[in-house]
Amino acid sequence: MENSWATSGAAFGRDLHLDLTGPGGVRAALLRALRDAVRSGRLATGTRLPSSRSLAADLGIARNTVADAYAELVAEGWLSARQGSGTRVAERAPARDAPGPARRTTGPARPADRPHFDLSPGSPDVSSFPRTAWLAAARRALTAAPSEAFDYGTPNGRPELRTVLADYLARARGVRADPERIVVCAGFMQGLGLLSRALGAADSGGAGRIAVESYGLHFHRDVITRAGLGTVPLLVDEHGAGTQELPALDDAGDIRAALLTPAHQFPTGVPLHPDRRAAAVNWARSAGSYVLEDDYDGEFRYDRQPVGALQGLDPDHVVYLGTASKSLAPALRLAWMVLPDRLVDPVLALKRTGEWQSGSLEQLTLAEFLASGAYDRHLRGMRLRYRRRRDQLVAALADRAPHIRVSGIAAGLHAVLELPPGTEQSIVQAARWQGLALAGLSFFRDPSAPGAPRDGLVVAYGTPPDHAFTSALEALVRALPPGE
Ligand SMILES: Cc1ncc(COP(=O)(O)O)c(C=O)c1O
Repeated sequence: MENSWATSGAAFGRDLHLDLTGPGGVRAALLRALRDAVRSGRLATGTRLPSSRSLAADLGIARNTVADAYAELVAEGWLSARQGSGTRVAERAPARDAPGPARRTTGPARPADRPHFDLSPGSPDVSSFPRTAWLAAARRALTAAPSEAFDYGTPNGRPELRTVLADYLARARGVRADPERIVVCAGFMQGLGLLSRALGAADSGGAGRIAVESYGLHFHRDVITRAGLGTVPLLVDEHGAGTQELPALDDAGDIRAALLTPAHQFPTGVPLHPDRRAAAVNWARSAGSYVLEDDYDGEFRYDRQPVGALQGLDPDHVVYLGTASKSLAPALRLAWMVLPDRLVDPVLALKRTGEWQSGSLEQLTLAEFLASGAYDRHLRGMRLRYRRRRDQLVAALADRAPHIRVSGIAAGLHAVLELPPGTEQSIVQAARWQGLALAGLSFFRDPSAPGAPRDGLVVAYGTPPDHAFTSALEALVRALPPGE
């Protein structure tokens, strides 16, 4: 006999699983299962139960057994039966389980544990996600999608997206792209992982090292080392990464690539000096290596023309990597690589063995979002908003903390505030106690980098929603050390 039951009938409106296992025969089991369902709230007050006939048929038991169980539960006050409206969960069914204290989990902290204000870098203002325009693009994309789009896709990504990306990247970022060399991936992280594995493979000379900026994201360095490669830090100064050092650092000829953020060094915020751009490309050419260009926020530049992509200088030696994480939302997990010809097959071969593809429906929506001009419109709007915030930050510092130097403000969603030596940790801690999340520069420093660490704050003015920004700034200026 079937011992459990689930229905999605119109009377119920939702599935309910009844487990008829346990001691005491079918009637006792049904009584227990219905009481449990009411007590736990799975059957809410007022819910209409199926007729005894249809429940009996679904469960494969005698109709009388169900009718008896209903009658008993009515007598106990769990259910109510009224002529014409069937059997329902009673208004005042016997004690439901109390909700109990909120359960502590190992997941994200509960709101009360979170800082009131968050100026630490990582995310754009996610409250500004263009929901209406995205929904409209999704509707158009789904309407037009061929049936095969709902099947497994190819590891390089939807052709519709690769085609519009090639146009967009050429127009907006000066990338020399053709759709055949674009591979869509689930975020920059996935792209970096695939590239590291491809560059460390035997036919690329085996393992080796990747040069990284001495200030950057530790989890990007981890992706590289997990792929079996070493990292070698490039010093970062006011002109960006010291790419002129690459030939000397690469004396063993084992540096497979240099991972750079040329448009807006992360986190110090400086653009890579033109001489250093040329030095990076010249080294990659003569060493037969690559530059991995992380263009994470290249769309956000405020005071002058965007710095074009380095990839435009040499598409055979520069891998361009872009992402929707800053321009739209990290939740999309959509990014794209424009690969030199030689890397397309090795990267796709690796992608086939694992992560395979990003969701096709989101790729189609992004393709439509780009093609319709909604992406450009969104970026223009966000550029204005972020620029206003940046101006507000600079004005608040000039007014309330003129002794603090701010840099890296020409682009992106964050700025760097320089601090007196030895003060960074205590300022970050004190801010945290006051409910303000801040990141110090030292968090981003490669521990193997030579030279003295700099004290500073990486202030992400993009992250808070509009309504919280002024208060977040106020909290920031209060957390800064007083001037002499
Ligand atoms: C330096 C840097 N690179 C890349 C990314 C994008 O990462 P992902 O596409 O994996 O979200 C970020 C975060 O937005 C970043 O700060």
